[in-house]
Amino acid sequence: MGSFPRRVALGAVVLVALLCVAWIVRGGADAKPLPGQPLRVLGKAKGLEIGTAVRGDDAKRVRAYRQLIAAQFSSVTPENEMKWEATEPEQGRFEFGAADEIVDRARQAGQKIRGHTLVWHLQLPGWVRKLGPQDLRAAMEEHIDRVVGHFKSKVGVWDVVNEPISDRGGLRPSVFERRLGDGFIALAFRLAHQADPDAKLYLNEIGAEGINAKSDRLYSVISGLKSQGVPIDGVGFQVHSNLDGLPADFVQNMQRFAALGLDIAITEADVGVPLPPDGEKLERQARIYDEIVRSCLTVNCKTLTFWGFSDRFSWISETQPGMGAATLLDGQFQPKPAFYAVQRALGG
Ligand code: XIL
Repeated sequence: MGSFPRRVALGAVVLVALLCVAWIVRGGADAKPLPGQPLRVLGKAKGLEIGTAVRGDDAKRVRAYRQLIAAQFSSVTPENEMKWEATEPEQGRFEFGAADEIVDRARQAGQKIRGHTLVWHLQLPGWVRKLGPQDLRAAMEEHIDRVVGHFKSKVGVWDVVNEPISDRGGLRPSVFERRLGDGFIALAFRLAHQADPDAKLYLNEIGAEGINAKSDRLYSVISGLKSQGVPIDGVGFQVHSNLDGLPADFVQNMQRFAALGLDIAITEADVGVPLPPDGEKLERQARIYDEIVRSCLTVNCKTLTFWGFSDRFSWISETQPGMGAATLLDGQFQPKPAFYAVQRALGG
């Protein structure tokens, strides 16, 4: 046994260590509340769900992130946890744990959940790419049936097919298109509808904001689906943007899809900035966010989802060299001009 002072010192060290462990387990500090009315409250007054992409691991780990998701948003989209590689990494072996955690937390916070995504050429496990036409069709049937079935009555909206059109206006040459032809899109929607007749089913596209070859093709594909009676409810515009801003005909483009009787959603909004950000760039970014919100309101869109809300967790800085600072809050969860712009555009 050591001397009394040594035992006191040891006790103090143990106590500090325990406090540190407790701090880490609870996920660090509370979020500093954001000024003004929460975005979800402002959105509600306009009949608009306000969503964010959510990262399950970070939500588990970081208390402030969890708290802000619950406080500010009325809808969440799992950023990666419902993609094919996550839900069926090996054929017939389904994994729902990570997605279930996001779903449970969202339900506790009274949030809607957008399921993202069933059929996409990326984050697709290697085994799917190796299948021939018949096996691929069977795999799609099983995948959609099991995934949509698992989340039935919890996930109200699915991005059934993601990014099926190439930038030049053809159908993207994915494994689905090559093996099954363009009928894979209708098939995916029919399967999703069978698995959950109550879910709203969306086709989600990237870079189709303006009227151009890509969105023209999207329009003809979707009109075709509608006229064949395929159960499609909506079209999602991702709106991954930058300081070049939105195409001038963004609203007009969304309106032609709405005129087909489809719901419109903005599903992945962010505005990348060349690094390092400065005051002037952040003001320009705020003006683009303002325009995103106003465009969404003009076409009566159902949901406006941001692809993350803090620069601490954003795919832009992780995947686009030299770009970043793409979201509403900085890395310390403090508001940027973009956050205030969104609040104002929502009437706050
Ligand atoms: C991105 C995620 O944000 C990243 O974490 C991941 O590494 C790659 O995918 N279009 C989509 C989203 O539909 O699923 C993508 O998300 C961004 C582009």
